[in-house]
Formats: sequence, structure tokens, C-alpha cells
Amino acid sequence: MADNYLERRMDEMRGGKQKTIVKRVGQTLDTLLMKNRSCRGYQADAPVSEELLKRMVEVNTKIPSACNQQVLRFRLVTGDEAAKVHPLIKMGGALPELHLPFAGTEPPAYIVICCKEKETKLVDIDLGISAQSMLLKAAEMGYNGLMIGAFHREKLKEVLALPYDPLLVLAVGKGAEQIRLTEIREDESHKYYRENGVHIVPKVVLEDLLIG
Ligand SMILES: Cc1cc2nc3c(=O)[nH]c(=O)nc-3n(C[C@H](O)[C@H](O)[C@H](O)COP(=O)(O)O)c2cc1C
Repeated sequence: MADNYLERRMDEMRGGKQKTIVKRVGQTLDTLLMKNRSCRGYQADAPVSEELLKRMVEVNTKIPSACNQQVLRFRLVTGDEAAKVHPLIKMGGALPELHLPFAGTEPPAYIVICCKEKETKLVDIDLGISAQSMLLKAAEMGYNGLMIGAFHREKLKEVLALPYDPLLVLAVGKGAEQIRLTEIREDESHKYYRENGVHIVPKVVLEDLLIG
């Protein structure tokens, strides 16, 4: 069944005689969620344009925000400027021996998410919604990304001359990694690992996520 089959059926039913069939090549949420893996190596020959990053940031005009405050602001980093960010981020903390990213696979672009106000619990909830929504948009456009919380805040603020505090960095590019999910029970190790060059991410099964 086409991804947007139900949406089209609803449109048809609502429209009565004047059927308007919107032709869209859609992807289901599940497809996008599966594509949206944390990627720590990118293709060097696939640059990311500012336009693409703007389309990612645009999702912020459509998402929820606590008290609708919309205090997040976004600094786009593309081209040569990305080299300023590379030394200030840390990837793959659970695999320190790999020193990710491998040389030559650094992210070609970043979105630095900043906040106009003091960071609070509600701002952090907004931050999560924003970051995930932007990465899903990247996945929809055939790109990959990574949320990076481990970065040098003060230095990043300085080198990019940011007017606000940076809260999270998103790496964006075309992935150069093979990544696979594997099911675990809640009492098994949650640590991601690599097996024959494939990055494996354990995810707790539904049964163990449900309470009672
Ligand atoms: C808030 C947040 C911060 C993160 N910070 C980092 C980071 O600094 N460096 C990194 O390599 N991965 C970081 N990650 C990625 C997680 O390690 C990743 O989500 C986890 O291993 C599961 O992999 P998956 O995203 O492919 O499901 C972060 C993820 C989140 C949600």
C-alpha cells in the first residue's frame, strides 16, 4: 500500500464529487524513524547546502513549543566553516578507541541550536522536539545526522560569534556508515558497538517499555 494511501482516501471522501487526488511520494513515519540513525561518518564528496539546512530549520515553524514561547534559534554552518566546529565536538563516547569520526568523514555541515533564554526543563523539551523533527526532515530528504550534546560550549560560542548559548549541535550530511538496530531486554547492555564494520544499536523491546 502506498505510504499516503489513507490520506488520499480521506481527501477523496471529504471532497465528495470534486475529488482532488494529491500525488505525493510519501514516506511513513516508521521508515523515517529507521533511516534516522545517529551517524558518525559522512561522505566527503556530498556537501550540504545552506538551503537544505534552512529546509530542516523550517520544521520549527510547525512544531509544538511549551507556552508557544519559541525561544530556540539556529546557526547554520556549511562549507569551510564546518572545520571550525570539528575539533569542538565529541562523537561516539561509548567507542573511544575508534576516535570517531574517521579522518575524511567529518560532517560537512552543522546546525547549532541556541536558546534566547535561560535553559529550563521546558526549553529542553522544546529542544528535543526540535532536534528530532529536523533530523526526520533530513532523513526525508535523503540525508543523515547526529545530535551532539558533547561539545565545547564556550569555545563554540566564541568561534561562531553566537549571540546566544548553544544547547545542542546537529551534524548533517550523507552517511558513510552501515547502522543496524538490534532488540534487547531492559536488563541487557544498552551500549552500542561495532561488528564487522557495522554499527549496532541495541533498543529495548516494546514489552519492557510498558509499565504494569
Ligand atoms: C540529547 C542527545 C545527545 C547526544 N549527544 C551525542 C554526542 O555528543 N556524541 C555522539 O556521538 N552521539 C550523541 N548522541 C547520539 C546517541 O548516542 C544515539 O542516539 C544513541 O547511541 C542511539 O543511536 P540511534 O540514535 O541511532 O538510535 C546524542 C543523542 C541525544 C538524544
